[in-house]
Order: sequence, then C-alpha cells, then structure tokens
Amino acid sequence: MDLNLVGKTALVMASSQGLGKAVATELVREGTNVMISSRNTKKLKKVQEELNAIGKGQVSFYTADITKKEDIQQLVKETQKVFGSVDILINNAGGPPSGSFEDFSDEDWENAFQLNLLSYIRAVREVLPD
Ligand SMILES: NC(=O)c1ccc[n+]([C@@H]2O[C@H](COP(=O)([O-])OP(=O)(O)OC[C@H]3O[C@@H](n4cnc5c(N)ncnc54)[C@H](OP(=O)(O)O)[C@@H]3O)[C@@H](O)[C@H]2O)c1
Repeated sequence: MDLNLVGKTALVMASSQGLGKAVATELVREGTNVMISSRNTKKLKKVQEELNAIGKGQVSFYTADITKKEDIQQLVKETQKVFGSVDILINNAGGPPSGSFEDFSDEDWENAFQLNLLSYIRAVREVLPD
C-alpha cells in the first residue's frame, strides 16, 4: 500500500528507543525523511546509523529535553533547516516514574505534566504554519 509518505518529513519525539524508534523505523521504510530526538546523543547516533542503513528516507537527529520549551523550539527549527519542513509530527515521550498516588509530590506531578502534556502542546504550536 502506498501511504504517500515518500519525501515527506516527520519529526518523531522521544525516538531513541521504544515506540518512538519503532514509529521512526516504519516511516523511514516508507521513504519518509525523519528527525529523531531524545536527551541522549550517543543513543541517537546509533539509531541514526541503523535507520540510514535501511536506504530509504534520510535520518537526522537533534538532542533535546522535551520538558524544556527552548529545546522543543530548537528541535523544530533544526528539522526545518535540515529537511525544509515538518509535515508530520509524532508526539511521544517516556512515561513518568511509576508508583502509588501517595508516593508523588507536587514536583513529580509538575514534571509529569511538562513531559506528557505540555511538551505535546508546545510541539504542536511550533509546527503549525504562521
Ligand atoms: N511500550 C508500551 O507498550 C506502551 C503502552 C502504552 C503506553 N505507552 C506510553 O508510550 C510512551 C513511550 O513508551 P516506550 O515504551 O516507548 O518508552 P521507552 O522505551 O522508555 O522510551 C522512552 C523514550 O522517551 C525518551 N525520553 C524520555 N524522557 C525524555 C525527555 N525529557 N526529553 C526527550 N526524550 C525523552 C527516551 O529517550 P532518552 O532516554 O534517550 O532521552 C526514549 O527514547 C510512554 O509515555 C509510555 O507510557 C507505552
């Protein structure tokens, strides 16, 4: 099935492993150019090599902590600089630490809010056309 993704650009958040990496892999197999991202440059380099070896879509990476507004802004700018646009945004993040309700402080809830909600809102805001 042709998904019409050849030559498009996808930004996949939190993609050094797990679901983000799996989505990035399938997009590259479809011929989509993909920007992968996470906090860990070493892991990203390895995933970039692995995905570029597929020989279809091109893969670039940018190291960013998506709990930080400035990192998301830079990540989107870098994707536009490298590939010309962001056609597809895959909002994804690692889960917050697991535990019981009584284990979590206000700071834990705020961190989870930054990671799993606000990061998605900020990324959508950055990729929307002016
Ligand atoms: N796997 C499942 O079966 C499943 C099922 C339902 C829901 N989910 C949810 O789906 C999401 C992804 O799950 P997963 O299993 O793929 O998780 P995972 O294997 O732990 O991967 C998490 C990814 O998020 C990145 N990450 C974490 N914090 C980050 C931050 N502050 N800034 C940038 N990147 C960050 C990690 O990269 P670095 O460490 O390199 O930064 C890694 O690439 C989670 O929210 C999880 O709760 C997963």
